Amino acid sequence: MQEPYRYETLPLDTPDEDPRWAEYLDIFRLGFLDKRASAEGLGIYRRSRRADRSTLGMVTTEGPGLEGRRPVGAFVSAPFTLNDGAGLVDALVINTIAVRPSHRRRGILSAMMRAHLDAAIDDGTALAVLTASEATIYGRFGFGVATRTPTIEVDTARMRFRDDVAVAPGSVEFVDPSFLLPHHERIRLAHQARYRGAGGIQEAHRLVDTGAWDTEEESASRALRAVVHFDSGGVPDGFATFKHDGWDNSPINTTVRMLCSPDPAIDRALWQALAATDLVERLTYGMSHPAEPLRAALADPWAVKQKDAGDAVWLRVLDLPRAVAGRGFEGDGEVLVSLTDALGYCAGTWRLSVQRGHGTAVPSTSDAEVSLDVSTLARIWLGDRSAAELAWAGLVRGSSEDVARLSRIFATVEPPVNLAKF
Ligand SMILES: CC(C)(COP(=O)(O)OP(=O)(O)OC[C@H]1O[C@@H](n2cnc3c(N)ncnc32)[C@H](O)[C@@H]1OP(=O)(O)O)[C@@H](O)C(=O)NCCC(=O)NCCS
Repeated sequence: MQEPYRYETLPLDTPDEDPRWAEYLDIFRLGFLDKRASAEGLGIYRRSRRADRSTLGMVTTEGPGLEGRRPVGAFVSAPFTLNDGAGLVDALVINTIAVRPSHRRRGILSAMMRAHLDAAIDDGTALAVLTASEATIYGRFGFGVATRTPTIEVDTARMRFRDDVAVAPGSVEFVDPSFLLPHHERIRLAHQARYRGAGGIQEAHRLVDTGAWDTEEESASRALRAVVHFDSGGVPDGFATFKHDGWDNSPINTTVRMLCSPDPAIDRALWQALAATDLVERLTYGMSHPAEPLRAALADPWAVKQKDAGDAVWLRVLDLPRAVAGRGFEGDGEVLVSLTDALGYCAGTWRLSVQRGHGTAVPSTSDAEVSLDVSTLARIWLGDRSAAELAWAGLVRGSSEDVARLSRIFATVEPPVNLAKF
């Protein structure tokens, strides 16, 4: 970075009363067109970042109106885990990024991104994930959309499961969200263990899912409600949280905030409970399963409308050999792949080999059979798209036989699933 800009970090043990906490958080509030945080909100922010062991990166500078050296860009990342098909692997999660409007387009995001990704690679982390506010920002840094969470609307009057579709046995109960506290982590981790592509939990998930904090209400939530599914032994094994949207909407709508269980049959029991609520005409859910099992399970599939395909998690491969070694492959084969990577981390030609589900990637001097950018590799990494589909878009180049081989190596039986909120 060129002076007067300087990259620094705000240490997590910075005392609570230090005004830099409020300044730091306000960079995001300003960037996302939000009001300043309340004292309680700032306390929740400190607590969350400390619990997540976040790195609070920032770019500081001096100048008129700044009263000394002040942060003008901020970038939060944290250690995270991702189900990569053969269990959980370490990943870097990038939580929030913003640069003050008066300092944009001077390379501040680029410098912060480079600092965090370099540090993650030094720590032996092979993948990074984020969610994006705009589709045009992160491709240049090697990220690509890797999972999707469609938004669906369910017409409750028409929502009835087919007779040949099982709903999990057990029972459901409507509870205060705080009831979830002792069960939340176990259920979220069971979901993560079940689905390729599912990410870990952060402090904000605990706080929000259990109603302890609500960013819209800026306090513990009074609006959030929860329904829990209990197995036949009375143990909670799935939950949904939701908010009623009031009487002014037509149809009368309830927004489902989170629906989490490790089993689609439990999900169905939760949907059934939500749809059976009197007076609710429509359920809206923004983190639906990409394969839409709910729609397929209904006697009237048109009761579910997909509103938006939802680019959920953007992924970046940081260290190709390490990432390939950690990925669970469902197809064997070998292919010579040429990768472009503007940041250089994965650039070059690689011999990618998979035998009995275990992969290796080693640098090669042979001619490549297929070529793609590392941001395109991200899109096939979790199985959301195949190499052949992206070849149609001109993003994967090679003979159709070689592209098909790459497709088979990365093919997954199930699409990736992620309750992405980070
Ligand atoms: C997005 C944001 C962080 C970019 O910060 P910045 O410091 O201006 O970015 P940089 O100067 O490092 O830009 C790097 C490159 O990305 C491009 N870029 C930056 N923001 C972009 C955007 N919103 N859309 C398209 N391209 C963008 C720049 O043009 C530049 O391209 P170049 O390398 O070809 O010159 C900043 O505009 C911001 O705070 N926006 C509001 C909050 C937000 O959207 N944050 C992201 C949350 S996911």
